[in-house]
Amino acid sequence: MTPIKLDISRVYDFITADAIHQMAGETSVAQQKLYKGTGAGNDFLGWLRLPSTIDDQQLDEMAGLASRLKDKTQLLVVIGIGGSYLGARAVYEAVSHHFTHLMPGEKPPQMIFAGHHIGEDYMHELLELLDHYDYSIVVISKSGTTTEPALAFRLLREHLTGKVGEEEARRRIVAVTDARSGALRRLADEEGYPSYVIPDNVGGRYSVFTPVGLIPLAICGIDIHQLITGAREMEALCDPATSFENNPAMLYAATRNALYRSGKKIEILVNYNSKLHYISEWWKQLFGESEGKEGKGIFPASVDNSTDLHSMGQYIQEGERILFETVISVDQPHHRVTIPSEKDNLDKLNYLAGKNIDHVNKMAELGTALAHVDGGVPNLRITLPSITEHALGGLLYMFENACGISGYLLEVNPFNQPGVEAYKKNMFALLEKPGFEEETAKIKSRI
Ligand code: PA5
Repeated sequence: MTPIKLDISRVYDFITADAIHQMAGETSVAQQKLYKGTGAGNDFLGWLRLPSTIDDQQLDEMAGLASRLKDKTQLLVVIGIGGSYLGARAVYEAVSHHFTHLMPGEKPPQMIFAGHHIGEDYMHELLELLDHYDYSIVVISKSGTTTEPALAFRLLREHLTGKVGEEEARRRIVAVTDARSGALRRLADEEGYPSYVIPDNVGGRYSVFTPVGLIPLAICGIDIHQLITGAREMEALCDPATSFENNPAMLYAATRNALYRSGKKIEILVNYNSKLHYISEWWKQLFGESEGKEGKGIFPASVDNSTDLHSMGQYIQEGERILFETVISVDQPHHRVTIPSEKDNLDKLNYLAGKNIDHVNKMAELGTALAHVDGGVPNLRITLPSITEHALGGLLYMFENACGISGYLLEVNPFNQPGVEAYKKNMFALLEKPGFEEETAKIKSRI
């Protein structure tokens, strides 16, 4: 049984427990659409039973690739954008030492990123950095045609080939893409790169448990077996056989929709552990792209506390009352740092002497939750026992499952992202991409 807990008791000042429980029927209908495949976007439900269908042999095979690359890889450059990089980054940053890049001594390949934006300075400085390190590349794109990663891959492929030669570069590039179509698939086949398939029925933001997340994580020494074990346990718990009250995905989806219907339009994912920053980035993409359509959807935002209590805290406490918070609370940190006593006590902190830093953090967390509830901000809390691959596997799967249900409660298709095309069309028109002549003429008349 998964040890992740969801506590919704601090929303009861705003929505009664009864009102939430009255949503059980409606939530179950939304869940049935997911499990029976009768809802919109039902050709993208491959993620639903993914953790339980990946077999250990596939995981071992990925770990095998990881050990082949390990010796020649100080840095692993993961090229991808959106769902094609955020899952790996979220898990990697959460389970890694905060200063992993700077720590002395032997270490597994360090994950760095490219193709997640189009910054020229970033690219220049990355290429400069890569002159000094042995590196490999995992290039990830389901469509195989996304501009940002394609541009980055062109530049990095040239750099790597210049550095180690064509033969060796081929061994150090791994492609994760569609089974059949797209430029990246063609290139991978022509060049003979080791390659892995993103299943047709899994969209980018639901792909962390496919090779999209697993390959980069395995190469960087992250325990993907534990990640999948955690996800499998959560998959079992989220099954329709589990009652509404005991199913965290249903309860989370119902509660956030009840709050949305009462006028709380923005959900802030809150952490008190800076390792979770990219979990929030992943979550924002998952819920933002899945729900924000047809003029509907809860706007997903995030803060890293206590840092952001000194910036966003004022707004959350007293600004427009359209917010609710979901706190990811971590029961046990991995390390203990005890506060020392001081003779002069000039900073007046001796009252904390002998306590550990996490105790102060926990009191900040509790004090903030109570203050925000008093200020009109409902508070949900998800507790992880500690930040491990196992716990993260469960957390990410729970969010995916809840997002599918929540999208159906909102009556949108949670598996498409038509709005993402609008900027691309304009950008291609402005760049005068062949095939966009009509759009180019139209856009030029507007600028
Ligand atoms: O969730 C999604 O589908 C998107 O965010 C994609 O992951 C993102 O746009 C990258 O697409 P691709 O993997 O085709 O390069």
